[in-house]
Amino acid sequence: RLRPLVQSQRTKVRFPRTHGCGHASSSRAREGARDARACFTTPIFYVNAAPHIGHLYSALLADALCRHRRLRGPAAPRFSTGTDEHGLKIQQAAASAGLTPAELCDRVSAQFQQLFREAGISSSDFIRTTEARHRVAVQHFWGVLEARGLLYKGLYEGWYCASDECFLPEAKVTRQPGPSGDSCPVSLESGHPVSWTREENYIFRLSQFREPLRRWLQGSPRAITPEPFHHAALQWLEEELPDLSVSRRSSLLHWGIPVPGDDSQTIYVWLDALVNYLTVIGYPDAEFTSWWPATTHIIGKDILKFHAIYWPALLLGAGLSPPHRICVHSHWTVSGQKMSKSLGNVVDPRTCLDRYTVDGFRYFLLRQGVPSWDCDYYDEKVIKLLDSELADALGGLLNRCTANRINPSGTYPAFCATCFPREPGSTGPSVRAQAEDYALVNAVATLPTQVADHYDNFQIYKALEAVSICVRQTNGFVQRHAPWKLDRESPADAPWLGTVLHVALECLRVFGTLLQPVTPNLADKLLSRLGVSDTERSLEKLFFLPRFYGHPCPFEGRKLGPETGHLFPRLDQSRAWPAKAHRT
Ligand code: ME8
Ligand code: MG
Repeated sequence: RLRPLVQSQRTKVRFPRTHGCGHASSSRAREGARDARACFTTPIFYVNAAPHIGHLYSALLADALCRHRRLRGPAAPRFSTGTDEHGLKIQQAAASAGLTPAELCDRVSAQFQQLFREAGISSSDFIRTTEARHRVAVQHFWGVLEARGLLYKGLYEGWYCASDECFLPEAKVTRQPGPSGDSCPVSLESGHPVSWTREENYIFRLSQFREPLRRWLQGSPRAITPEPFHHAALQWLEEELPDLSVSRRSSLLHWGIPVPGDDSQTIYVWLDALVNYLTVIGYPDAEFTSWWPATTHIIGKDILKFHAIYWPALLLGAGLSPPHRICVHSHWTVSGQKMSKSLGNVVDPRTCLDRYTVDGFRYFLLRQGVPSWDCDYYDEKVIKLLDSELADALGGLLNRCTANRINPSGTYPAFCATCFPREPGSTGPSVRAQAEDYALVNAVATLPTQVADHYDNFQIYKALEAVSICVRQTNGFVQRHAPWKLDRESPADAPWLGTVLHVALECLRVFGTLLQPVTPNLADKLLSRLGVSDTERSLEKLFFLPRFYGHPCPFEGRKLGPETGHLFPRLDQSRAWPAKAHRT
């Protein structure tokens, strides 16, 4: 019987407080319990060609999840990414580039590393499958499968798609006219060419795992997110699950890790690649057992089957649990077609980072990318979104509330509880707050919880949408009370003027704190302008509008940070700044 040997470490940690926010949802409490040990991973990327925005998107999703987790509490999650450097695809790409495989790997892996550095990907490990530590892990893993009787030698006959590095049954192959007009066999799913193979290989008893996999998926409804992908994985288990060839003849595939004790065979690149998730937590050294299976894999839907079926089966085979969670996202397309290195229709992420800034482009990809749906990329969309949400709405709000004309003392203004009493509907000569103002306070007070829930559900775009709605609402609040029309010298107006600005700055402090995982530099600029110090930027320290709830506010009366110009300069200069946003 196959039973996971390693159980997850479920250390209880206190969930961060966010004052004035009411309840912490049960899903959030569950996630909180795992905070002590968490590891986020991206796929490791093939080095056959330079990175494009699809790869950056996966890395950004993982980065934002990881940064949000760090904001929640002191436990530091691990975060790994890297490059997948073995296999026929790389061997062939190197040959056609006139390079040795090692040269190609060094060159392209460096491009991924540089891109991720530039884009602020805060990974704690970058793994290359050509490293010695990985060979040790893969060969050890192989040894475990072998010792457990799960590998046998047999004749494999069928199609192989080098571009997808996968074996295909006849039913998954179709014919397409090739370059010279003759009919060529291609993968039905990816359209990539396939070739007939017939060779003796090592074969993994995948078929034995159909039931255990089904039990795992049925017992863990949140294991694969979003739900349609969980459903798809269960659907695959309805079909026959044939054994899987896990090696290739070395004479054909020399660029890889040799089968231990049999140099005539090279380990199948997907087995090699998947084990990277164990290598990065120290496998096979015992320390890895305190991290596995607390791992969340972030992957594209193109490699769902490898992660949802093969990988958990291999893990169960090696006596380990399936991963904690698999978060799946869809594809960036160009004119409706998947952006792909093989198709050559890629958008260069370096150009985008230059053009839209690191924070601008991070914000765009995470705000527009919806894991359940493919998303078409075009530049006008980026410009429109960033100008409206970052330059005008958020930048404009900060401008309006910190401008010298409106706040000449340059300090965090005081909140007046008689102008804005805790109880809505209070009456009195100095009460100035209206019903909509209470709605705003309520919305911003619950925002951190909403955002955390969206992160837990792998819906970062919804977290950003929620923030954006609150930014708009705060602009409405400022517009409604037009602080620029209030008389700073009048005893009737002055406390209310301070209160309006205080509330708006408190809202901005919440937005800045919550935007840190997505736009770290822009959030830093915003929080610094508000005078929020480095130690006051965690979710634990986020106590929104304490004065409203009858507590002291550490910011009141504090000097604001220095003015450093527009928070996010407009990209489209042809349209003038809206008059309101420009009121400085
Ligand atoms: O599959 N839109 O590597 P790969 C969004 N080495 N994401 C995209 C994308 C697009 N158009 N194109 C690629 C491999 N991606 C294997 C993985 S893991 C153990 C081994 C992202 O270079 C997405 O995450 O083909 C996808 O799953 C991954 O890049 C595939 O990268
Ligand atoms: Mg691919």
